[in-house]
Amino acid sequence: MIKLSPSILSADFSNLLKDVKAVEEAGVELLHIDVMDGHFVPNISLGPVVLDSIKGKTTLPFDVHLMIENPDKYIPKFAKLGADILTVHAEACPHLHRTVQNIKSYGIKAGVSLNPATSLYSIEEILEELDMVLIMSVNPGFGGQKFIESSLQKIRRLKGMIDAKGLDIDIEVDGGVKLDNVAEIVKAGANIIVAGSAIFNSNNVKENVLSFKEVINN
Ligand code: DX5
Ligand code: ZN
Repeated sequence: MIKLSPSILSADFSNLLKDVKAVEEAGVELLHIDVMDGHFVPNISLGPVVLDSIKGKTTLPFDVHLMIENPDKYIPKFAKLGADILTVHAEACPHLHRTVQNIKSYGIKAGVSLNPATSLYSIEEILEELDMVLIMSVNPGFGGQKFIESSLQKIRRLKGMIDAKGLDIDIEVDGGVKLDNVAEIVKAGANIIVAGSAIFNSNNVKENVLSFKEVINN
């Protein structure tokens, strides 16, 4: 089953719960929450207080994407705030194996994200330990960027690596996903789809979700 994880980075923060409820009611499976620190990426987004404010008000699992330096420092906090999947960037973790164990010690799913220029080899040795790999299909930091085409090859190769080892690991794709490229992203092997601007940048949030679901499920 292909899951949809709308990125609230493009939601209306003056009325966040309204947008969250709209995607929940439209039947998405996850809620993608982008945490940026202005160091690892050149932008600052949202942090624990925002998670805390929606915690308990939605049934959607929190798919938390940490684009921050020193993520280990904040893992306990995000685990406590109800993260169901906690994803760190390989580029921000010199001791990635330890960081992944740290996440899993809270009984939540561990994801590792790779920037467009980061090789799949950086996770080859710990693939068995992961619940999810997040392939960035834009350089992280901003919503509304253009999908980097070479990401398709990377998704295919990752899917090949996972299948060759007989593993069951989710492949999430994030950045520049639109209605007109989502089918080939799924075909390449992704099973969790993040979309921010394509879902929230209009007044038709529910319709946008339904259009995505129609393409994904066919
Ligand atoms: C980018 C974030 C994304 C972003 C995607 O650094 O990780 O989750 O919100 O936005 P779109 O779908 O607009 O590219
Ligand atoms: Zn993201």
